[in-house]
Amino acid sequence: HPHIAYQGADLYLEGVRLADLASHFGTPLFVYSQAAMLAALSAYQRGFAGRDAQICYAMKANSSLAVLQLFAHQGCGFDIVSGGELERVLAAGGNPATVIFSGVGKTRAEMRRALDAGIGCFNVESEAELDVLNEVALAAGQRANISIRVNPDVDAKTHPYISTGLKDNKFGIPHDRAVAAYRHAAGLGGLRVAGIDCHIGSQITEAGPYLDAVDRILDLVEAIEAQGIAIRHLDFGGGLGIDYHGDIPPAADALWAQLLGRIDARGFGRRRLMIEPGRSLVGNAGVCLTQVLYLKPGEHKNFCVVDAAMNDLPRPAMYQAFHQIVPLATRAAAPATYDVVGPVCESGDWIGHDRSLAVQAGDLLAVLSAGAYCMSMSSNYNSRPRAAELLVDGTRVHVIRERETVADVFRHERLLAY
Ligand code: LLP
Repeated sequence: HPHIAYQGADLYLEGVRLADLASHFGTPLFVYSQAAMLAALSAYQRGFAGRDAQICYAMKANSSLAVLQLFAHQGCGFDIVSGGELERVLAAGGNPATVIFSGVGKTRAEMRRALDAGIGCFNVESEAELDVLNEVALAAGQRANISIRVNPDVDAKTHPYISTGLKDNKFGIPHDRAVAAYRHAAGLGGLRVAGIDCHIGSQITEAGPYLDAVDRILDLVEAIEAQGIAIRHLDFGGGLGIDYHGDIPPAADALWAQLLGRIDARGFGRRRLMIEPGRSLVGNAGVCLTQVLYLKPGEHKNFCVVDAAMNDLPRPAMYQAFHQIVPLATRAAAPATYDVVGPVCESGDWIGHDRSLAVQAGDLLAVLSAGAYCMSMSSNYNSRPRAAELLVDGTRVHVIRERETVADVFRHERLLAY
């Protein structure tokens, strides 16, 4: 995490001492490094230098308006999965022509709004969706650009951690049905075949599965084009992992050097290329600051109860995910082993198991790699207001989301008329 480092005993994000932010803005608190986000993006940009390529940030990873604004300003497009995400892109000043719309359950209303906004392409996930989109486009007097999400079914045995690229999941169209689906799409007057896409999974830490997917997709492009249907762009999805805890994925530029080598060798190097990275652009740019409320020594386990919880950081509860937890100020004391847990009334509300920490009540901690799939997956469970978010640029600090109040949490609720 190059933008997070101790200076003496104190943890800094870029030029800002994190303990100062925690005391000024309170905890739990998300803090993002602009430099880290830009560095992650520039690795992809280097990888695609000289190519006809569009990076579409998969904004589900972190959909805060200022983050979208930052990426839009750098020329990114966006991969969206709902009408709500489209409105966020528009509110942040993103260019709708660079938006691609993924997801297995687009509603007619979402399709209509996306057509009116002039998005670049629909990534269609089923044959039934092709027909509905065709109807919606015809009714609107428009033609929708489409790509079909194909499930490359890359070998699960060699790459067992890939979940979404396999046959038996809800995403995409099976590889062996793709040619027929494209023929069907090409005959629908409300659609214009633009490209092909795939997305094989998330937190991928090796190049192998991507190389397999590239080969499978290019095989298909050859088969589809043999039917006289032109595939103008190739979208290889997202999924590149980040280093949470020593599982080090390839750098984006190195990965793409390798993949482009394969794409070039097969004669597709001049095609328009698209990718949909999410986590790898923002994950390691963010931390969540939290305060120790109580230490609870036990017979078999010590608990360190902090003021952040599964509603703020859902990944450990949902996926048994590992996030590093470090103190904002190191103590010269012997560490003990703790389960770091939140205040929510669920045994699943833990943030880290068996962590070695030298802490006391009142101390501040940083949960690392919290830039992706944390705030965007947060909830108000236990009527906990959502945390505030800050973006740091050098020594400058921008509040990009104010802390919710409890009144915000039940603002839309109505009492019965007794
Ligand atoms: N494109 C599509 C079609 C996707 O479904 C996803 C993520 C992405 C791109 C971006 O993938 P990424 O580059 O971020 O891996 N909440 C989970 C991750 C869910 C990913 C869902 N799809 C987590 O916290 O690990």
